[in-house]
Amino acid sequence: MDTPVIEAPVTIDLGDRRYEIRIGTGLLDDPRSLEGLPAASSAVVVSNVTVAPLYAQRLMGLLSTRYRQVHLVELPDGEAHKDWASLNRIFDALLAHACDRKTLLVALGGGVVGDMTGFAAACYMRGVPFVQVPTTLLAQVDSSVGGKTAINHPLGKNMIGAFYQPLRVLCDLDTLATLPQRELSAGLAEVIKYGPIADMAFFDWIEANMDALRQREPLALAHAIRRSCEIKAEVVGQDEKESGLRAILNFGHTFGHAIEAGMGYGQWLHGEAVGCGLVMAARLSQRLGLVDAAFVERLRRLVLRAGLPVQAPVLDAKDNVARYLTLMRVDKKAEAGEIRFVLIDGPGRAVVRGAPDALVAEVIADSCRA
Ligand code: NAD
Ligand code: GLY
Repeated sequence: MDTPVIEAPVTIDLGDRRYEIRIGTGLLDDPRSLEGLPAASSAVVVSNVTVAPLYAQRLMGLLSTRYRQVHLVELPDGEAHKDWASLNRIFDALLAHACDRKTLLVALGGGVVGDMTGFAAACYMRGVPFVQVPTTLLAQVDSSVGGKTAINHPLGKNMIGAFYQPLRVLCDLDTLATLPQRELSAGLAEVIKYGPIADMAFFDWIEANMDALRQREPLALAHAIRRSCEIKAEVVGQDEKESGLRAILNFGHTFGHAIEAGMGYGQWLHGEAVGCGLVMAARLSQRLGLVDAAFVERLRRLVLRAGLPVQAPVLDAKDNVARYLTLMRVDKKAEAGEIRFVLIDGPGRAVVRGAPDALVAEVIADSCRA
């Protein structure tokens, strides 16, 4: 048996809503993973048709040591199903099982399942407790942490949702063993983003450990997840509802969301779009004189080494720039129709601001070429 890896928990400090992110191997089999969670007669695991056959039985076994009734809701898989229909399936199951307001919801899956389960928990009987069990790298380093929950609307991604914090996040590294390589790369985009916005020493570490990360070495993954969560915890602890600082976590996402929506949800993975978006946002930072070309090239190479695309897609053969700009105006950071970007104001420091359309257009044109 491999040596177990257990990191010290990372705490999200939100006063009396403080909670822990536990990171390690074997968490799905360890009764200590549930210690301290509130008592209830039932727990409901929400997962999807891909992840449930892999891990639901183990998780339900663990939960049944503490909860008398444990149910499973299996949703269809994919970003295209992050919608009202899936959300309603969760509510249908909760009502069919006569779940009460103490029922614990447990999200088992990637960011899609996590975001929907969190939103369902926020709404059902005006709020029931929930736990995140993220099973993708992206969800372990980002989406399961910080309480953003949502579904998509055909006119915009994550447009319908709520801030609602989990009681705990359990990042079991063992679950990453079955993750397709493309999904692992997608998660690396969200790991890489933390360097330029907050910690260039971490960026150096990612550069030095990219091969180990892609080979899923548990110690490398554990460190990447832990440091990512620490940075996110620091930001969320200061600005839970994104009145300012938290927006820096969206580095790469303004361009990325345009790519995701423009291509049709599910064509480019969220993390792939973000990876490409990181390079586009860095290019825009360079055009505004905030970073030099060497920094942009360093970031571009790392994104490429993570197995992510760095060439932006053409979203409209007739007027590509206009299409990007239209899609980016739907971004939640936009104010009075002005697109606001997370830019790098010198390596390790982020700033949120607008930029002239002409410069943005140049970045889009450049990025679609290379
Ligand atoms: P995902 O949830 O679609 O999961 C990716 C794929 O991997 C799916 O097919 C899934 O079924 C499969 N999968 C999951 N775990 C697996 C495992 N262990 N083994 C095998 N297959 C597995 O995608 P994602 O990248 O995890 O999350 C993307 C979503 O997260 C987007 O909807 C995005 O908007 C959201 N997001 C939210 C936040 C937030 O703060 N709430 C942050 C970033 C992203
Ligand atoms: N993923 C961005 C945030 O949680 O704010």
